[in-house]
Parts: sequence; structure tokens; C-alpha cells
Amino acid sequence: MERIIITGGKPLYGEISVSGFKNAAAPIIFATILAQDKCVIENLPDISDVRVALDILTAMGAYVKYTGDTTVEIDTTNINPGGAPVELVRKMRASYYLLGAELGRFGKATVGTPGGCDLGERPIDQHIKGFEALGATVEVDESTNTIVATAPEGGRLIGDSVYLDVVTVGATINIMLAAVLAEGTTVIENAAHEPHIVDTANFLNSCGAEISGAGTDSIRIRGVKRLHGTTYAIIPDMIEAGTYMILAAATNGKLKISNLIPKHVESITAKLEEMGIIVEEGDESVTVYRGEKLNKVNIKTLPYPGFPTDMNPQICVMMCLLDNHTKCTLTEGVWENRFRYVEELKRMGACITVNGRRAEVEGVGRLHGAKVRAVDLRAGVAMVIAGLAASGQTEIDEIFHIQRGYDNIVEKLKSVGADIDLVTISDSYTKISD
Ligand code: EPU
Repeated sequence: MERIIITGGKPLYGEISVSGFKNAAAPIIFATILAQDKCVIENLPDISDVRVALDILTAMGAYVKYTGDTTVEIDTTNINPGGAPVELVRKMRASYYLLGAELGRFGKATVGTPGGCDLGERPIDQHIKGFEALGATVEVDESTNTIVATAPEGGRLIGDSVYLDVVTVGATINIMLAAVLAEGTTVIENAAHEPHIVDTANFLNSCGAEISGAGTDSIRIRGVKRLHGTTYAIIPDMIEAGTYMILAAATNGKLKISNLIPKHVESITAKLEEMGIIVEEGDESVTVYRGEKLNKVNIKTLPYPGFPTDMNPQICVMMCLLDNHTKCTLTEGVWENRFRYVEELKRMGACITVNGRRAEVEGVGRLHGAKVRAVDLRAGVAMVIAGLAASGQTEIDEIFHIQRGYDNIVEKLKSVGADIDLVTISDSYTKISD
């Protein structure tokens, strides 16, 4: 077991380079199944979700080989459908993309129910609705927790139009995966707009798919008979970027966040500026530091291009750091249970009242170090921000959540002056990272 130990209160200065996007890497890795050829994927983040996704493909019979620190070669020519080990599938949410990819290529998918952060109910009814609209039969075996999707006779799905009842990233991508090799044209209406949807579509198009409209409400996929291999670089992680933007302001330092697409963090930039934080945009970077005075702000998280739900815990920390008694409202518009981290922040002196999907956050000026847990991925990184901004020592347990999504976080933070260590927990601490 590992723990992060932080001595906070130091402003952080320097430059942090953003890694490839976790939420694009996963669908693109599973989309290589559809290519049935050799693909070279570049700018992969070194995170456990990527390692698990690659382990799943390897277990299914794919050839997977790193040819550089962030570049991997994947050849899915000889994979076995239905061969994904349940224990790996349960380790990550995005393993549900195996359903669309296997169904599209083989006409049949057998996949265990996925894992991921506990954010309340996480149904996949819209994924299933999409597969069914394309002619598949979908059965969920509750006794083995397995989902089996089967294409109509002949083994090929048939394009049709699908209206999504809720805006969902996962279902939009999964239906796109299923539809690229279908017969005829599929139209996804009320599609989600997230940059990783566009990235997945661009990857598939570079393999010979015919997808248009990704990034808008309406995505059109003209089915093709076959895809081919490609070389493709994943976009930068907008949530990692946003996390470090908040870190700069929270520690009252100045950080240049490089290798990002400023447009992808526009909603974060807008809200930070409203709070009195300076965000200077470069071509592929932003530089962030506090202005003269911090202001209150109210935020509701929404699907893209709204303020991202995956930045909810991090912005909450910033709200806590406002002057005493300054009140902000933070409303969660995507997940039913995103505020589990509040109890942890309270151990550090936060003053937050949660009522359903709404939190009233009262500024306390400064937090103090404490022993806390990473209750999920974004909650965990919020504890890192809080610990670095707080006075005294913070110890964060259950950091495997953070390691699922933040590439080299301890090293990146040390490089900008953070006093942070990763230790293994035994009778006495052993430093394993310096
Ligand atoms: N929803 C349904 N039915 C469905 C699918 C979703 O009702 O069939 C609902 C969900 O309950 C939720 C909303 O629709 O209320 C949005 O869910 P979405 O499908 O967009 O979420 P997801 O694909 O499961 C991805 C990210 C999450 C991120 C959300 C929203 C991955 C692996 N996960 O989840 O990322 O919060 O989109 O942007 O891409 C994270 O990175 O920390 C994380 C949790």
C-alpha cells in the first residue's frame, strides 16, 4: 500500500507539461480492436487505467509493445472476442468500450460489468439502447455480472438513428464504435460534445472510418467494410491541465501549464478569472497565478463545454481558500454522488454544507494538514491540492485512485517545488520516490 505525504504551505513555481488524456486513451486503445491491424498510439499517459486497458488487449491475444515512453504498438489482428478477463474489466470504467468494439468487429461481445469511481448510480441503459437500435440483442446476466450483445443474423449491425435520452460521453463513444463497421448509416442525436469524443472519431477516421459531426449534437457514421492500421497521437488531458491550473492559484504560486489546448479549458479559465485568478493564454500553454483579490463564484458542473464534473472537487478546494465567510455555491449537474470528498476536506478545516447535489462552501482562508483518503480519482487529487495549500502535514491514503488518472504526479509536483513524497506503508515508512 502506498501513501502520499505532503508538507504544505509553499507557493509552487515553474512549468508542468500535461500528458495524454486518460478519457481519450481508453476508448482509442479499445477502438484498435476495430482496426484489425497494427496501430501506433502516441502520447499515452503513464497511468494505471492505460496499463489495465493494454493488459486486457494482451489477455485477448493482441500484440502490445511499448516502443517509446509514451508510444505503444498494438496489433489486434488475432484477438479472441469475449476474452477480456473479468478481474481486469472490473478495474476500470472505460472497459465498457469493449462492448461497442467487439460487437462492431465480431458481431458479438461478452464483457463483464465495468468498475470505476463510485459517483452514485452509473447506468449503461443508453449504450444498450444504441446497440439495440443497430439491431443487436443485449442481455445482462445478473448472476455472472456479464453483458452479452449479439448482432442480427449475418453478424453485421445495421445503421439507424439513435436519440440519446441523456447527454452521455460513454454511450456516444460506444455507439460510434459499434457503428463504424455497420451496414448503412448511423446518426447519434443529442450526442455529447467532449473533446475525447472528437479524438476517438479522428482516430477511427484515420483508420478509414467515415464519421462526421463529432463535437456537435449530431454525429453521422457511414459504415465501412473494413478499417486499417494508423499512427495517432492522443490529445492532452484537459482535466489534468485544469487540476494544475487550480493548484497554481491554491498555493499562491505561478505555474505555466504547457502542452495543452487552451480551448479545452475555456470553462475552467472563465471561472478562475471570475474568481480573480489571472490566466495568461499562450498557443499551447496557460500561465496561472492569483490577482490582487479573490472573489466568490457560483459554479454548476455540466457536460462539455460547461464546467467539467471532473473538476468539481478541485474547484471546491479553491472555494474553501477564499477569505473567511465568503460563500460560494457548487452544484453538481452530472453525477448524483460527487460530494463524498467533503468529509475528507472537513478534516482539513473546510466549512461545507451539502444538500443533495448542491454544496454551500464557506471560505476559511487557509486549510490545515490532516490524515485523509482519496475517495475517488478527482477527490483524491483535490486532497493533493488541499494538502499543498494547507499549513502542516497531510497524509493521503488509498492513492491508487489518483494513480488511475494522473501521470507521474509526484515527480511533476516535485519539479515545481512541492514537498511531496510517495511512501510505502509498513511499520516504518520507506521512501520509494524522490
Ligand atoms: N447515464 C445514463 N445512462 C447511460 C450512461 C450515462 O443515465 O447509459 C448518465 C450518468 O448516470 C450520468 C450522465 O449520464 O449522470 C453522464 O454519464 P457519462 O456516460 O457521460 O459518463 P461516463 O462515460 O461513464 C465519463 C468519464 C468520467 C466523467 C464523465 C462525464 C470515462 C472513463 N469516464 O464517464 O470521468 O465524469 O464521462 O464527463 O471517460 C473521471 O475521469 O474522473 C471520470 C469519472
